[in-house]
Amino acid sequence: MSQCPFSSEAPRAPFPIARQCPFVPPQEYREFQQYDGPVKVRMWDGREAWLFTRYDDVRAVLSDNRFSGDPSVTGFPSLSEARNAVLGLEPAFIRMDPPQHGHFRRMLTKEFMVKKIAAMQPMIATIFNRLLDELIAKGPPANLVNDLFLPFTSEVIASLLDVPREDHGFFQEQSRLKVLLDVGPEVPREASARMLAYLDALITEREKDAEQRSDLLSRLIVGQVRPGHLSHRELVVMADLLLMAGHETTANQMALGVYSFLTHPDQLARLRAEPDLLRNAVEEMLRFHTIVHFNAFRVAREDVEVAGQLVRRGEGVIALIAGANHDARAFPAPDSFDITRKADHHVAFSYGVHQCLGQPLARAELQVVFGTLFERLRELQFAVSVDEIRTKGDHFVQGLQRLPVTW
Ligand code: HEM
Repeated sequence: MSQCPFSSEAPRAPFPIARQCPFVPPQEYREFQQYDGPVKVRMWDGREAWLFTRYDDVRAVLSDNRFSGDPSVTGFPSLSEARNAVLGLEPAFIRMDPPQHGHFRRMLTKEFMVKKIAAMQPMIATIFNRLLDELIAKGPPANLVNDLFLPFTSEVIASLLDVPREDHGFFQEQSRLKVLLDVGPEVPREASARMLAYLDALITEREKDAEQRSDLLSRLIVGQVRPGHLSHRELVVMADLLLMAGHETTANQMALGVYSFLTHPDQLARLRAEPDLLRNAVEEMLRFHTIVHFNAFRVAREDVEVAGQLVRRGEGVIALIAGANHDARAFPAPDSFDITRKADHHVAFSYGVHQCLGQPLARAELQVVFGTLFERLRELQFAVSVDEIRTKGDHFVQGLQRLPVTW
């Protein structure tokens, strides 16, 4: 393997790199994977970071706790000014390092265990079928993002936390604003302040009668806040993370998944003919789209050698899961959407200590959607020309702006 021309002195590649095709990662990642070691990239603020795109290297970085995920550590790379504004807020455990991270995450692990989520599957299916009944009753056309997927994922996470239905539109909107990249820093900052104020009031009320309730927030109040393991404010910040991570991501994945099936009718026919492929198909769409496409940013807490490269203390690192999931060494023909491939080893939920806590829930929801939607709507198709379907190119989480369909 040759040495990367970017990794010694100049020139540097800029980051982020624009996608040639909005539905697959930029071709440059493939080029970078030909070289030994990482590539140096230049961020919007002129600072540089090491970009890792190979599957093995990404996993090596993400499983090495000498790399910090705490944005307050000097040298942490910055994606945009708006993103900085979000990262500069009170951190939830997603932005903490061990051992502090584990202290908070452990309070939730049993809530999201595979067995516990499996028991919720009938409830999840009931919610989805009811929303689909309503959509069918209204008749086509529909925008599946706003008319089905966001209401569905919002209702599932909100029922877990017992957040009132009339507030779903509010938290959907604040979450949307928080992941915008090309806006002034006040946009995500103010959205976050509104969410925290809302949850502060909700949790203050909940604290009055938590013992009489059975929702997740009440269980955390009784089990963690009352004995002093978690402060009221820490619970507010944790609830914010759960509510946002719990609906925005999965709804985006559903929209992109539908897009991929409608643009790959052979794959859709295969899924309909062999429903046992459902589990595989869900893993493949997670891999193929890798919706948290700029993940993961880290900074070296000490000098670390990885993939033959010495990363010095204070240098920024990007272990790009979107690159890893399209590395031909790990996934042959990575840019093709193939629901028969074994994609279970993908890193769409990240890797290491910050690996997605909600992945069993996300998988359960995706399996309900893709096991039901194409069966109940046999004639599902785009209601506009495929060229009019736009991705959320300016968001931290990849998705579709709208998904107009008819049936
Ligand atoms: C398709 C859907 C989803 C995808 C692709 C996804 C992806 C991810 C990724 C890449 C991370 C790592 C973030 C980082 O290192 O900065 C993460 C973390 C996390 N996700 Fe998800 N996620 C999804 C759905 C969910 C759901 C439904 C929940 C439910 C609450 C959830 C809760 C979390 C939490 C709490 C973390 C932080 C874990 C930690 O730092 O220990 N996610 N997710």
